Amino acid sequence: MQTAFPHLFEPLQIRGKRLKNRIMSTGHDTCLPTDNLVNDKLIAYQRDRAAGGVGLIVLQVAGVHDSARYTSHVLMATDDACIDGYRQLAEACHAHGTVVLSQLFHPGREIMESADGLLAVAYSASSEHNERFRVMPRALDQAMIDEIVKGYASAARRLHQAGLDGVEVVASHGYLPAQFLNPRVNLRSDGYNGELEQRLRFLREVLAAVRAATDEQFIIGLRISADERDSQGLSEDESLAAAVALQGQLDYLHIVAGTSASLGGAVHIVPPMAIEPAYLAREAATFKLSLKTGWPASWPAWWKCGVLATAWRRAPPKKRFTTA
Ligand SMILES: Cc1cc2nc3c(=O)[nH]c(=O)nc-3n(C[C@H](O)[C@H](O)[C@H](O)COP(=O)(O)O)c2cc1C
Repeated sequence: MQTAFPHLFEPLQIRGKRLKNRIMSTGHDTCLPTDNLVNDKLIAYQRDRAAGGVGLIVLQVAGVHDSARYTSHVLMATDDACIDGYRQLAEACHAHGTVVLSQLFHPGREIMESADGLLAVAYSASSEHNERFRVMPRALDQAMIDEIVKGYASAARRLHQAGLDGVEVVASHGYLPAQFLNPRVNLRSDGYNGELEQRLRFLREVLAAVRAATDEQFIIGLRISADERDSQGLSEDESLAAAVALQGQLDYLHIVAGTSASLGGAVHIVPPMAIEPAYLAREAATFKLSLKTGWPASWPAWWKCGVLATAWRRAPPKKRFTTA
C-alpha cells in the first residue's frame, strides 16, 4: 500500500482544515435516518468509520428545501431541529481527528418516491421529463429559485452552527445544479440559460450564498460528474468547462460519472464490480491538469490527456502518484 500510494498517509490541507491522511469516506445514503434527522444509529455508524482512521468523512445528502425530499428517509437540513443531531455526529468524529463535511442536495426532477407513496411534485430548470423515474417536472419560477438558493444557505448555516467543517454541493449525477448546467435539460428563456455563464448562474448563486452564510474557514467542495455517460447528459467538455469556471469559488472538486436520469447513466452512481477499479483516473487527471494549468477547457480532452501521459512517462518514478 505504501509503495503503490506513497502519499496516502500524508496530511492534506483543505482551506482551514488539515486532513490527517488522504483516505475519505464518500457521501452514501445509509437509510438509517428516522424523521429525516440524524439519530444514534447514524452517529454510531460514522463514529466507527472515524475510529477506523479515515481522514475525511462526507456525510450523505442533506435536503436543502422541502421540494428536495427525494426519498422518505433522506436527511433534511431545512429546520434548526437538525442542528443537535449533526453536532453530536461531528463531535463523535472529531474525537478521532476526522474532518466531517455534509453533502448539500436538491434532486430537481430526480424524485424516486414520496413519504406517503403518492407521486411527488418535482421541479427542475425546465419541464423536461426524466427517463428513469418517468417524472415530468414543473419549471421553477424565479421566486422558487430564490427560495431554494436561500435553502442552500440556511442549510449550510445550520451545519456550520453544528460544528461541521464544511459542505459538498452535489452537482453530480444529473441533480438540480446539473439540470441547470445541461443545455438539453435547461430550456429556459431567462437569465439562467444561454452560454455557459448563464447556465452556471444557479450554481454560482448557491456557492456565494453558502459562503456568505458561513465563514472563511468553512470548506466548500463540489461533486460533479466528469461525464454523465448518457446521450442527453453532460459531456466531459461541458463538465470540465464548468469546473474551470467555478474553481475560484471552490476548495475542492470531487469527480464521479453518470446520471440518475437514465438506466445507463445510473449504473455509474454505484459502479458494479464488473467495472474496473479507478476507472475514472483518466478523467480525474484531465480535470486536475486543466485546473492546475489553467489550460482552456475548450482544448480537446484527448489532446490534454496525451500531454499528461507524455509528462507522466517522463517523470522520474519518485515524482509519480502526486495527488495534491
Ligand atoms: C448505498 C449507497 C448510497 C449512496 N448515496 C450517495 C449519496 O447520498 N450521495 C452521493 O453523492 N453518492 C452516493 N453514493 C455513491 C458513493 O458516494 C460512491 O461514489 C460510489 O459508491 C462509488 O464508490 P465506491 O466504488 O468506493 O463504492 C452512494 C453509494 C451507495 C452504495
